[in-house]
Amino acid sequence: MDTPHDEVIPILDFGSQTAQLIARRVREAGAFSVLLSPDTPLQEIRALNPKGIIFSGGPSSVYEDGAPTCDPGILDLGVPVLGICYGMQLAGRMLGAKIDRARHREFGRATLNIDNNSDIFAAIPQNTTVWMSHGDQVEALEAAGLETIASTPTCPHAAVRSTDPARPFYGVQFHPEVTHTPHGVDILQNFVYKVCKCQGTWRMADFAETACDRVRQQVGDGHVICGLSGGVDSSVAAALIHKAIPGQLTCVFVDTGMLRKNERELVETTFRDHFKVDLRVVDAEADFLADLDGVSDPQEKRRLIGHRFIEVFTQQAAVIAAEGKDAKFLAQGTLYPDVIESGQSAAGKSAGIKLHHNVGGLPKDLAFDLVEPLRDLFKDEVRKLGEVLGLPDQIIWRHPFPGPGLAVRILGTITKPKLDLLRDCDEILLEEIVAAELYRKTSQVFAVLLPVQSVGVMGDGRTYESVVAVRAVETQDFMTADWARIPFNVLATISNRIINEVRGVNRVVYDISSKPPATIEWE
Ligand code: XMP
Repeated sequence: MDTPHDEVIPILDFGSQTAQLIARRVREAGAFSVLLSPDTPLQEIRALNPKGIIFSGGPSSVYEDGAPTCDPGILDLGVPVLGICYGMQLAGRMLGAKIDRARHREFGRATLNIDNNSDIFAAIPQNTTVWMSHGDQVEALEAAGLETIASTPTCPHAAVRSTDPARPFYGVQFHPEVTHTPHGVDILQNFVYKVCKCQGTWRMADFAETACDRVRQQVGDGHVICGLSGGVDSSVAAALIHKAIPGQLTCVFVDTGMLRKNERELVETTFRDHFKVDLRVVDAEADFLADLDGVSDPQEKRRLIGHRFIEVFTQQAAVIAAEGKDAKFLAQGTLYPDVIESGQSAAGKSAGIKLHHNVGGLPKDLAFDLVEPLRDLFKDEVRKLGEVLGLPDQIIWRHPFPGPGLAVRILGTITKPKLDLLRDCDEILLEEIVAAELYRKTSQVFAVLLPVQSVGVMGDGRTYESVVAVRAVETQDFMTADWARIPFNVLATISNRIINEVRGVNRVVYDISSKPPATIEWE
């Protein structure tokens, strides 16, 4: 692995849903961080010259058969190690502590009582809320050369540290990386600055340079096809690849028939003018609709759409190859949440939640090598990268639009009339959100066509027509989200206009569910 920066804090990922969140907190603090598989050989870890190492949490119990583990030699490198939850238990066990089933399992908020305000707890209030999620806990510390530095009413050793200066180990049973631990960022920053003695010099510009180098190394003299959707992810991926290997990139925009109104025209003009890259527009609406005919299962929709995308790309590759270009690479704007929600992680262990078409839906015999320069990043980090690459605000701040498009916003089967109806509703919704100056204040706003009809009255007549749900969310990273408090008068205008202007809709409802437990999309 290349060393991207002189201040690196790698994270051994034991299958945690939040491992990349830890990495992102470390990057925000100004040190570079990457996720590593726990079985990464010791010499590879040493070669990174790490300033510190973090062991993530994970779903296993250290005593389980096949529980992930790592080389215990990591604890003897003389480099500070921070173990979080499972990571604390694993390191504790390697050092000689006992790990027991906790008498009181803790899930959710707990009050941490800090005994020692130095190092990782410097300037943290003595009583602070932390997020717990564990069934096991560390016991018998003395034998392991550990001392307790914080507790909760039901977890006597909620944070520990090594008493041996040659083994600078810290362990926390709670999760400092999640926002439910209000001082979690400060605790991780203390680890980065006070314990690992980093200067905090890493910047997103460094990521751009490192990512360009990686693209150059991967692609060599080859040619890359990039599926450009017009969204921020694929645009940033394309801009990055264009910067890395100008002239070796062809962007392909597929009109699936499931796009928003005027999207194709907007993408054509914006990207041809802005990127000045070779952009091909493929009209594949008929093929996509034929594939989806009668299909209502959301995962099946994603799978079929993913397959068709690949076919379209393969055909385009053949066209481009016939022009003498060796197009064996396919670029995708896959982000970290897509990777983790498809059940992949450095440990390969996190539980799968949703099959994203741009990750899990790819066929096994894919004829392309994938170029995915944004795989380690969250959405807001991608926007920062977009700024570094000089993309216009109009692209950087565009609300995300899922690859399968309106297909996952029409619950049940897809037909062209339903698509046209939803497109009209969506256009009105976005017009009103922009007019109310709420576009930048919300993260994603869209309309969903529900598979139910309801009774209404228009003029003097009874109607029996479709229901449209309006979804508007605010989120930092799209892993969790809250429903946006759109003012009632704006909602009233949206509802009024949709019902008056879109034939076939007689009811508009507003979705007030947060994620979790709901997801942002309805399918
Ligand atoms: P969920 O519904 O999982 O959405 O809370 C989180 C973010 O992901 C987008 N999304 C998708 N993007 N292919 C994509 O490219 C998909 O299949 C897909 N499903 C959801 C969603 O719009 C939101 O931004």
